[in-house]
Amino acid sequence: PQARPLAGIKLMLTAGPTREALDPVRFISNHSSGKMGFALAAAAQELGAEVLLVSGPVGLPTPAGVTRIEVESARQMHQAVMAHIADQQIFIACAAVADYAPKTVAEQKIKKTASDTLVIELTKNPDIVAEVAALPDKPFTVGFAAETRDVEKYARDKLSRKGLDMIAANDVAKAGQGFNSDDNALTVFWPQGRADLPLAGKTQLARHLLILIADRYHERH
Ligand code: PMT
Repeated sequence: PQARPLAGIKLMLTAGPTREALDPVRFISNHSSGKMGFALAAAAQELGAEVLLVSGPVGLPTPAGVTRIEVESARQMHQAVMAHIADQQIFIACAAVADYAPKTVAEQKIKKTASDTLVIELTKNPDIVAEVAALPDKPFTVGFAAETRDVEKYARDKLSRKGLDMIAANDVAKAGQGFNSDDNALTVFWPQGRADLPLAGKTQLARHLLILIADRYHERH
């Protein structure tokens, strides 16, 4: 096998969480640390790709040789991805993007009132990976699926509904893997096959996933 199967290929990926502002000091977010996406960025760069990493707020250094764009909200991530997608041959969506954002962002800090309940209305964010997969000249598009049950069923459903070329599913209900841990396990599905990548460090797992992606990508081109 080639040592640099992604040589000369432009690859963009998203990583980390998004933050959806409620007011100037509060937001809705999730537990993504960026470790999985940053490991993928580093591995892709080592395998020869020219890597553009669009990252939500995380406390990780940029991997050597990788270009990084920092964003906060899902809408900003969407904008950054769309601004650069036309050049890319491969797109990997590893970010834990908020599906919904507060409908309005209060200009001032929301005050506590006498009422025991507070209702926040949310609106749907753009689905970045689905929009990329629907482009007429789309790159090879890989999504992730973070599931807490029926992992295969929901992952296959996302693969077809979002029109992806491949999806990497992780069970985020299991201890010691998924969000914010150093290890993970993935089951990868594509229209004609599947592969199980058992529990391992995210660095090693990222390499394996990228080799699978490179194989499928070259099969097509
Ligand atoms: O960052 P770590 O702490 O290392 O954790 C890694 C991880 C668990 C976050 C990662 O392995 C993972 O599963 N990432 C995807 C998380 C997620 O939001 O999954 P989802 O099943 O909700 O979304 C499905 C796919 O659609 C994902 O590729 C997601 O990036 C994409 N999406 C979702 C919503 C949206 N508005 N736009 C998107 O592009």
